[in-house]
Amino acid sequence: MRDKRNLKVEIINNEFLTDVIDGLNQKPKTLKPKYFYDNRGAELFTEICKTPEYYPTRTEIEILKLNAKDIASEIGDNVALIEYGSGALEKIQILLNVLENPAGIIPVDISKDQLIEATAELQTMYPDLKIIPIPADFTKPISIPKLSPAPANRVAFFPGSTIGNFEPNLAISFLQGVTDTIGPGGLLLIGFDLKKQTETLVAAYDDKAGITETFNKNILHRINTELGGNFDIQSFKHIARYNEKEGRIEMHLESQTNQSVSIKNTVFQFMEKETIHTENCYKFTETDFKVLASKAGLSPVKAWNDNRRYFAVMLLRAS
Ligand code: TRP
Repeated sequence: MRDKRNLKVEIINNEFLTDVIDGLNQKPKTLKPKYFYDNRGAELFTEICKTPEYYPTRTEIEILKLNAKDIASEIGDNVALIEYGSGALEKIQILLNVLENPAGIIPVDISKDQLIEATAELQTMYPDLKIIPIPADFTKPISIPKLSPAPANRVAFFPGSTIGNFEPNLAISFLQGVTDTIGPGGLLLIGFDLKKQTETLVAAYDDKAGITETFNKNILHRINTELGGNFDIQSFKHIARYNEKEGRIEMHLESQTNQSVSIKNTVFQFMEKETIHTENCYKFTETDFKVLASKAGLSPVKAWNDNRRYFAVMLLRAS
Protein backbone atom coordinates (compact mmCIF):
# COMPACT_ATOMS: atom_id res chain seq x y z
CA MET A 1 0.00 0.00 0.00
CA ARG A 2 1.25 3.42 -0.87
CA ASP A 3 0.91 6.02 1.79
CA LYS A 4 -0.74 9.35 1.13
CA ARG A 5 2.55 11.21 1.05
CA ASN A 6 3.93 9.16 -1.82
CA LEU A 7 0.71 9.62 -3.70
CA LYS A 8 1.00 13.39 -3.32
CA VAL A 9 4.59 13.39 -4.59
CA GLU A 10 3.43 11.37 -7.58
CA ILE A 11 0.62 13.76 -8.41
CA ILE A 12 3.01 16.71 -8.26
CA ASN A 13 5.51 14.87 -10.46
CA ASN A 14 2.75 14.13 -12.89
CA GLU A 15 1.98 17.81 -13.26
CA PHE A 16 5.72 18.49 -13.59
CA LEU A 17 5.92 15.80 -16.28
CA THR A 18 2.92 17.04 -18.28
CA ASP A 19 4.12 20.66 -18.04
CA VAL A 20 7.60 19.65 -19.24
CA ILE A 21 6.28 17.59 -22.15
CA ASP A 22 3.83 20.34 -23.16
CA GLY A 23 6.57 22.96 -22.92
CA LEU A 24 9.11 21.03 -24.96
CA ASN A 25 6.50 20.36 -27.64
CA GLN A 26 5.98 24.09 -28.13
CA LYS A 27 7.78 26.15 -30.71
CA PRO A 28 9.95 27.77 -29.42
CA LYS A 29 10.49 25.25 -26.61
CA THR A 30 9.71 26.58 -23.14
CA LEU A 31 9.78 25.45 -19.51
CA LYS A 32 7.91 27.04 -16.61
CA PRO A 33 10.18 28.94 -14.20
CA LYS A 34 8.41 27.70 -11.09
CA TYR A 35 10.24 24.39 -11.62
CA PHE A 36 13.58 26.04 -10.80
CA TYR A 37 12.60 26.03 -7.16
CA ASP A 38 13.24 22.65 -5.60
CA ASN A 39 15.42 22.81 -2.46
CA ARG A 40 18.59 23.11 -4.49
CA GLY A 41 17.04 25.79 -6.72
CA ALA A 42 15.89 27.79 -3.70
CA GLU A 43 19.43 27.62 -2.28
CA LEU A 44 20.97 28.65 -5.59
CA PHE A 45 18.58 31.57 -5.78
CA THR A 46 19.72 32.73 -2.33
CA GLU A 47 23.30 32.58 -3.68
CA ILE A 48 22.39 34.58 -6.82
CA CYS A 49 21.17 37.37 -4.54
CA LYS A 50 24.67 37.63 -3.05
CA THR A 51 26.54 37.96 -6.36
CA PRO A 52 28.02 41.39 -7.09
CA GLU A 53 26.08 41.64 -10.35
CA TYR A 54 22.63 40.93 -8.93
CA TYR A 55 21.66 44.38 -7.63
CA PRO A 56 17.85 43.96 -7.17
CA THR A 57 17.82 42.20 -3.78
CA ARG A 58 20.44 44.47 -2.25
CA THR A 59 18.80 47.59 -3.64
CA GLU A 60 15.32 46.64 -2.50
CA ILE A 61 16.56 45.84 1.02
CA GLU A 62 18.27 49.22 1.14
CA ILE A 63 15.07 51.00 0.04
CA LEU A 64 13.02 49.11 2.62
CA LYS A 65 15.50 49.84 5.42
CA LEU A 66 15.97 53.53 4.63
CA ASN A 67 12.22 54.11 4.39
CA ALA A 68 10.94 51.59 6.91
CA LYS A 69 9.43 54.18 9.26
CA ASP A 70 7.68 56.00 6.45
CA ILE A 71 6.36 52.75 4.98
CA ALA A 72 5.13 51.64 8.40
CA SER A 73 3.27 54.90 8.95
CA GLU A 74 1.52 54.53 5.58
CA ILE A 75 0.58 50.91 6.39
CA GLY A 76 -0.75 51.57 9.90
CA ASP A 77 -0.99 49.26 12.88
CA ASN A 78 -2.56 45.90 13.60
CA VAL A 79 -2.36 44.66 10.00
CA ALA A 80 -2.20 41.12 8.66
CA LEU A 81 0.75 40.80 6.27
CA ILE A 82 0.57 38.25 3.45
CA GLU A 83 3.88 37.64 1.70
CA TYR A 84 3.89 35.93 -1.71
CA GLY A 85 7.10 34.00 -2.40
CA SER A 86 8.51 34.56 1.07
CA GLY A 87 11.79 32.64 0.53
CA ALA A 88 14.21 33.11 3.42
CA LEU A 89 11.76 35.56 5.14
CA GLU A 90 14.48 38.16 5.29
CA LYS A 91 12.69 41.18 3.85
CA ILE A 92 9.57 40.93 5.98
CA GLN A 93 11.72 41.36 9.10
CA ILE A 94 12.50 44.90 8.03
CA LEU A 95 8.75 45.60 8.21
CA LEU A 96 8.23 43.62 11.40
CA ASN A 97 10.85 45.73 13.13
CA VAL A 98 8.91 48.93 12.50
CA LEU A 99 5.23 47.93 12.31
CA GLU A 100 3.09 48.71 15.34
CA ASN A 101 1.55 45.61 16.78
CA PRO A 102 1.15 43.49 13.60
CA ALA A 103 -1.84 41.11 13.76
CA GLY A 104 0.11 38.30 12.11
CA ILE A 105 1.92 37.23 8.98
CA ILE A 106 1.01 34.68 6.32
CA PRO A 107 4.05 33.66 4.27
CA VAL A 108 3.26 31.77 1.05
CA ASP A 109 5.98 29.83 -0.77
CA ILE A 110 6.31 26.92 -3.20
CA SER A 111 9.51 25.61 -1.52
CA LYS A 112 7.97 23.83 1.43
CA ASP A 113 11.16 22.88 3.26
CA GLN A 114 12.56 26.39 3.08
CA LEU A 115 9.19 27.78 4.23
CA ILE A 116 9.09 25.52 7.28
CA GLU A 117 12.69 26.26 8.22
CA ALA A 118 12.41 30.00 7.70
CA THR A 119 9.14 30.13 9.67
CA ALA A 120 10.66 28.26 12.61
CA GLU A 121 13.61 30.61 12.65
CA LEU A 122 11.41 33.71 12.46
CA GLN A 123 9.22 32.41 15.27
CA THR A 124 12.22 32.19 17.61
CA MET A 125 13.09 35.79 16.77
CA TYR A 126 9.50 37.01 17.22
CA PRO A 127 8.01 34.61 19.79
CA ASP A 128 4.71 36.51 20.11
CA LEU A 129 4.07 36.90 16.40
CA LYS A 130 1.24 34.90 14.84
CA ILE A 131 2.70 33.14 11.77
CA ILE A 132 0.61 31.01 9.43
CA PRO A 133 2.83 29.55 6.68
CA ILE A 134 1.09 28.39 3.50
CA PRO A 135 3.09 26.05 1.25
CA ALA A 136 1.51 26.82 -2.11
CA ASP A 137 2.08 27.74 -5.74
CA PHE A 138 0.86 31.33 -5.90
CA THR A 139 0.50 31.23 -9.67
CA LYS A 140 -2.72 29.35 -8.88
CA PRO A 141 -5.66 30.63 -6.82
CA ILE A 142 -5.01 30.08 -3.12
CA SER A 143 -7.27 30.77 -0.21
CA ILE A 144 -5.70 32.85 2.51
CA PRO A 145 -7.04 32.19 6.02
CA LYS A 146 -8.66 35.06 7.87
CA LEU A 147 -7.03 35.97 11.17
CA SER A 148 -9.10 36.25 14.28
CA PRO A 149 -9.48 38.66 15.89
CA ALA A 150 -9.88 40.51 12.60
CA PRO A 151 -6.90 42.77 11.78
CA ALA A 152 -7.30 46.48 11.06
CA ASN A 153 -6.29 45.86 7.43
CA ARG A 154 -4.80 43.30 5.09
CA VAL A 155 -1.48 44.10 3.45
CA ALA A 156 0.01 41.99 0.68
CA PHE A 157 3.79 42.09 0.39
CA PHE A 158 5.27 41.04 -2.94
CA PRO A 159 8.95 41.99 -3.11
CA GLY A 160 11.78 40.82 -5.36
CA SER A 161 10.37 41.96 -8.71
CA THR A 162 8.69 38.57 -8.91
CA ILE A 163 5.77 40.37 -10.58
CA GLY A 164 8.16 40.75 -13.53
CA ASN A 165 8.28 36.97 -13.94
CA PHE A 166 4.62 36.90 -15.04
CA GLU A 167 3.52 37.60 -18.60
CA PRO A 168 1.75 40.99 -18.55
CA ASN A 169 -1.78 39.56 -18.81
CA LEU A 170 -1.01 36.99 -16.09
CA ALA A 171 0.50 39.75 -13.94
CA ILE A 172 -2.84 41.55 -14.15
CA SER A 173 -4.81 38.44 -13.19
CA PHE A 174 -2.38 37.69 -10.36
CA LEU A 175 -2.76 41.27 -9.05
CA GLN A 176 -6.54 41.00 -9.44
CA GLY A 177 -6.37 37.93 -7.18
CA VAL A 178 -4.35 39.96 -4.66
CA THR A 179 -6.95 42.76 -4.83
CA ASP A 180 -9.68 40.22 -4.06
CA THR A 181 -7.66 38.77 -1.18
CA ILE A 182 -6.87 42.10 0.52
CA GLY A 183 -10.37 43.48 -0.12
CA PRO A 184 -11.42 47.12 -0.62
CA GLY A 185 -9.02 49.45 1.19
CA GLY A 186 -6.42 46.67 1.49
CA LEU A 187 -2.84 47.49 0.61
CA LEU A 188 -0.15 46.01 -1.60
CA LEU A 189 3.54 46.75 -1.02
CA ILE A 190 5.37 45.58 -4.11
CA GLY A 191 8.95 45.76 -5.41
CA PHE A 192 9.74 45.91 -9.11
CA ASP A 193 12.87 46.38 -11.16
CA LEU A 194 13.18 49.52 -13.29
CA LYS A 195 14.29 49.80 -16.91
CA LYS A 196 17.95 50.79 -17.20
CA GLN A 197 21.13 50.30 -19.24
CA THR A 198 21.14 46.93 -21.01
CA GLU A 199 24.61 45.90 -19.74
CA THR A 200 23.59 46.34 -16.11
CA LEU A 201 20.43 44.31 -16.68
CA VAL A 202 22.13 41.47 -18.54
CA ALA A 203 25.01 41.16 -16.06
CA ALA A 204 22.49 40.66 -13.23
CA TYR A 205 21.30 37.48 -14.96
CA ASP A 206 24.69 36.24 -16.11
CA ASP A 207 27.04 36.52 -13.14
CA LYS A 208 30.73 35.76 -13.62
CA ALA A 209 30.79 33.01 -11.00
CA GLY A 210 28.14 31.12 -13.01
CA ILE A 211 25.57 30.72 -10.25
CA THR A 212 22.70 31.91 -12.44
CA GLU A 213 23.88 29.42 -15.06
CA THR A 214 23.69 26.57 -12.52
CA PHE A 215 20.29 27.87 -11.39
CA ASN A 216 18.97 27.93 -14.98
CA LYS A 217 20.31 24.41 -15.62
CA ASN A 218 18.76 23.15 -12.38
CA ILE A 219 15.54 22.66 -14.31
CA LEU A 220 17.30 20.14 -16.61
CA HIS A 221 18.86 18.49 -13.58
CA ARG A 222 15.38 18.08 -12.06
CA ILE A 223 14.00 16.61 -15.29
CA ASN A 224 16.83 14.06 -15.27
CA THR A 225 16.52 13.06 -11.63
CA GLU A 226 12.77 13.34 -11.08
CA LEU A 227 11.32 12.52 -14.49
CA GLY A 228 13.90 10.07 -15.85
CA GLY A 229 15.22 12.46 -18.51
CA ASN A 230 18.62 12.11 -20.13
CA PHE A 231 19.66 15.71 -20.80
CA ASP A 232 23.39 16.10 -21.35
CA ILE A 233 23.40 19.24 -19.24
CA GLN A 234 26.87 20.35 -20.34
CA SER A 235 25.76 20.56 -23.94
CA PHE A 236 23.35 23.38 -23.07
CA LYS A 237 24.53 26.95 -22.64
CA HIS A 238 23.01 29.51 -20.27
CA ILE A 239 21.92 32.64 -22.12
CA ALA A 240 20.55 35.91 -20.71
CA ARG A 241 19.52 38.65 -23.14
CA TYR A 242 17.50 41.84 -22.99
CA ASN A 243 14.53 41.98 -25.31
CA GLU A 244 14.17 45.73 -25.72
CA LYS A 245 10.84 45.62 -27.53
CA GLU A 246 9.18 43.54 -24.82
CA GLY A 247 11.12 45.25 -22.00
CA ARG A 248 12.30 41.98 -20.52
CA ILE A 249 15.34 39.90 -19.70
CA GLU A 250 14.98 36.44 -21.23
CA MET A 251 16.77 33.38 -19.94
CA HIS A 252 17.33 30.51 -22.32
CA LEU A 253 19.20 27.22 -22.47
CA GLU A 254 20.83 26.82 -25.86
CA SER A 255 21.66 23.43 -27.31
CA GLN A 256 25.27 23.39 -28.51
CA THR A 257 24.73 20.48 -30.91
CA ASN A 258 22.07 18.67 -32.90
CA GLN A 259 20.84 16.12 -30.41
CA SER A 260 17.89 14.20 -29.12
CA VAL A 261 16.81 13.99 -25.51
CA SER A 262 14.36 11.53 -24.08
CA ILE A 263 12.10 11.83 -21.08
CA LYS A 264 10.65 8.43 -20.25
CA ASN A 265 9.26 7.36 -23.65
CA THR A 266 9.11 10.75 -25.32
CA VAL A 267 11.95 11.92 -27.54
CA PHE A 268 12.68 15.58 -28.32
CA GLN A 269 14.94 16.80 -31.10
CA PHE A 270 17.17 19.83 -30.62
CA MET A 271 18.91 21.66 -33.43
CA GLU A 272 22.29 23.26 -32.77
CA LYS A 273 21.60 26.79 -31.32
CA GLU A 274 17.96 25.96 -30.62
CA THR A 275 16.93 27.26 -27.20
CA ILE A 276 14.56 26.39 -24.41
CA HIS A 277 13.07 29.61 -23.10
CA THR A 278 13.05 29.24 -19.31
CA GLU A 279 12.11 32.65 -17.92
CA ASN A 280 11.20 36.26 -18.54
CA CYS A 281 11.97 39.08 -16.11
CA TYR A 282 10.01 42.16 -17.14
CA LYS A 283 11.39 45.60 -16.35
CA PHE A 284 9.14 48.60 -15.81
CA THR A 285 9.01 52.35 -15.60
CA GLU A 286 6.86 53.57 -12.72
CA THR A 287 4.26 54.62 -15.27
CA ASP A 288 4.30 51.16 -16.92
CA PHE A 289 3.63 49.64 -13.54
CA LYS A 290 0.87 52.06 -12.54
CA VAL A 291 -0.96 51.30 -15.79
CA LEU A 292 -0.68 47.55 -15.15
CA ALA A 293 -1.83 47.86 -11.53
CA SER A 294 -4.80 50.04 -12.41
CA LYS A 295 -6.12 47.21 -14.60
CA ALA A 296 -6.24 45.10 -11.43
CA GLY A 297 -8.10 47.73 -9.37
CA LEU A 298 -5.05 49.09 -7.54
CA SER A 299 -4.14 52.77 -7.22
CA PRO A 300 -0.74 54.08 -6.17
CA VAL A 301 -0.35 55.61 -2.70
CA LYS A 302 3.40 56.25 -2.57
CA ALA A 303 6.67 54.98 -4.07
CA TRP A 304 10.26 54.82 -2.85
CA ASN A 305 13.51 54.46 -4.86
CA ASP A 306 17.24 54.12 -4.41
CA ASN A 307 19.50 57.00 -5.50
CA ARG A 308 20.44 55.32 -8.77
CA ARG A 309 16.76 54.68 -9.54
CA TYR A 310 17.49 51.01 -10.22
CA PHE A 311 14.49 49.70 -8.31
CA ALA A 312 11.09 50.79 -6.99
CA VAL A 313 9.01 49.84 -3.98
CA MET A 314 5.40 50.98 -4.36
CA LEU A 315 2.43 50.99 -2.03
CA LEU A 316 -0.98 50.64 -3.71
CA ARG A 317 -4.54 50.54 -2.42
CA ALA A 318 -7.34 48.27 -3.60
CA SER A 319 -10.42 50.21 -4.64
N1 TRP B 1 12.11 37.95 -9.75
C1 TRP B 1 13.50 38.26 -9.71
C2 TRP B 1 13.99 38.81 -11.02
O1 TRP B 1 13.31 38.75 -12.00
C3 TRP B 1 14.31 37.09 -9.28
C4 TRP B 1 14.50 36.00 -10.27
C5 TRP B 1 13.60 35.18 -10.77
C6 TRP B 1 15.73 35.65 -10.85
N2 TRP B 1 14.19 34.28 -11.59
C7 TRP B 1 15.48 34.57 -11.67
C8 TRP B 1 17.00 36.13 -10.74
C9 TRP B 1 16.48 34.00 -12.42
C10 TRP B 1 18.02 35.56 -11.47
C11 TRP B 1 17.75 34.50 -12.29
O2 TRP B 1 15.08 39.35 -11.06
